[in-house]
Amino acid sequence: MAFWTACILAVTGLTALADRRPDPPSPFATPAGFPKARVPSDNPMTAAKVAVGRRLFYDTRLSGNATQSCASCHEQALAFTDGRAQPVGSTGQTLPRSAPSLVNVAYNSTLTWANPALLTLETQMQVPLFATHPVELGINDNNRGAVLNRIQRDRWYRKHFPRAFKGARHPIRWTNIVRSIASFQRSIVSAKSRYDRYLRGKAELTESQSRGMDLFLGEDAGCHHCHGTFLFSDQATYAGAPRAPVLFHNNGLYNIGGTGAYPEDNQGLAAITGRKRDTGKFKAPSLRNVALTAPYMHDGSIATLEGVIDHYSRGGRLIEEGPFAGDGRDSPYKDPLIAPLNLSDRQKADLLAFLESLTDRSVAKNPKFSDPFQPPPSR
Ligand code: HEC
Ligand code: HEC
Repeated sequence: MAFWTACILAVTGLTALADRRPDPPSPFATPAGFPKARVPSDNPMTAAKVAVGRRLFYDTRLSGNATQSCASCHEQALAFTDGRAQPVGSTGQTLPRSAPSLVNVAYNSTLTWANPALLTLETQMQVPLFATHPVELGINDNNRGAVLNRIQRDRWYRKHFPRAFKGARHPIRWTNIVRSIASFQRSIVSAKSRYDRYLRGKAELTESQSRGMDLFLGEDAGCHHCHGTFLFSDQATYAGAPRAPVLFHNNGLYNIGGTGAYPEDNQGLAAITGRKRDTGKFKAPSLRNVALTAPYMHDGSIATLEGVIDHYSRGGRLIEEGPFAGDGRDSPYKDPLIAPLNLSDRQKADLLAFLESLTDRSVAKNPKFSDPFQPPPSR
């Protein structure tokens, strides 16, 4: 049973591989078992652009006060998250939501926790670069020219931007900065978890992992309803795929005062649609590399994977006291797919073991994605 469901997961990827239109030459091969990523036609992948993007991703000169880079909140060792519940921007403001992993981000249908309008990495990047509420990198009308100037003056960039944007009269400009970083992010692909190797017949799952997979993919735990794509999310897209309807769910984290309310700055989809019934609806994130991405949920309010499993086993979170008190299990906005599972200790341990098999530790160390400003570690 689990074997077949696993095959279905693998086949979701393979249908896309069967779409054999000729590809432009690309140094970025799609890993076995994964479909081909969508790449905007005006920003094709090239090694030169990815190299520029990698450097910019790690360059603190790319913030208003030259203190932070993308990597400040998206650290490679943590699968490009930052280990905090709520990150702090370059001017000291706390962000309401936690930083999601960027591994396999090229395949996400929508970006950030609950915004159906952010569809490309190029568009999303306006937020960390230029947002003012809250400030991330803090680039604004007053310092925009100065920040660009820092990049334009740098010798490395003066040599490498023209290679990445051949024939451009002014290669070092904002559009090209954004395109390069987006290309670097699209290059961060990982398909080498134990689970991937198992699908390819190259590794075995332990008995516990295998039982955990049955729980995850079967109806006893039902996780696959929302974490069922090859990314273990329910919002995956790839080249040639129809744009699937984009789903967001309330998984019962809060029910403040029994009204279904969520903390003020984290309303989820409702913040965009203005509809009460969208309260607390967030994206079911990818569970790949989840052993590296604690703390969990949109606001990092569950510290451990054990805590996440207890949350689902109970069918919602009970907060007994304080400003957020309420029983998430009874929330009027909770997705009906979230119901008490009453898992045994063994089932919990099995689910945990399966979740751990989705982690590819090599992505956290791969020198292709590492900080180019740091010398490689000496052996
Ligand atoms: C101060 C911390 C911080 C910095 C700096 C930062 N990010 Fe983020 N990033 C976040 C947070 C928090 C979110 C989630 C925001 C939300 O859901 O509202 C996020 C979300 C994202 C996402 C969406 C991922 C997904 O799967 O939905 C991408 C892509 C991203 N950031 C890329 C970048 C890039 C590129 C830079 C540099 C230009 C950058 N970030 C700088 C904190 C940061
Ligand atoms: C109804 C859809 C749904 C079902 C079923 C579901 N999840 Fe989720 N899951 C979500 C949503 C939505 C989030 C994010 C919620 C938030 O942050 O408010 C989430 C978050 C998570 C996270 C945190 C990931 C991170 O990076 O923060 C983990 C781990 C997780 N789910 C595991 C599971 C497991 C294990 C099961 C089965 C027991 C399961 N989920 C069932 C929708 C679902």
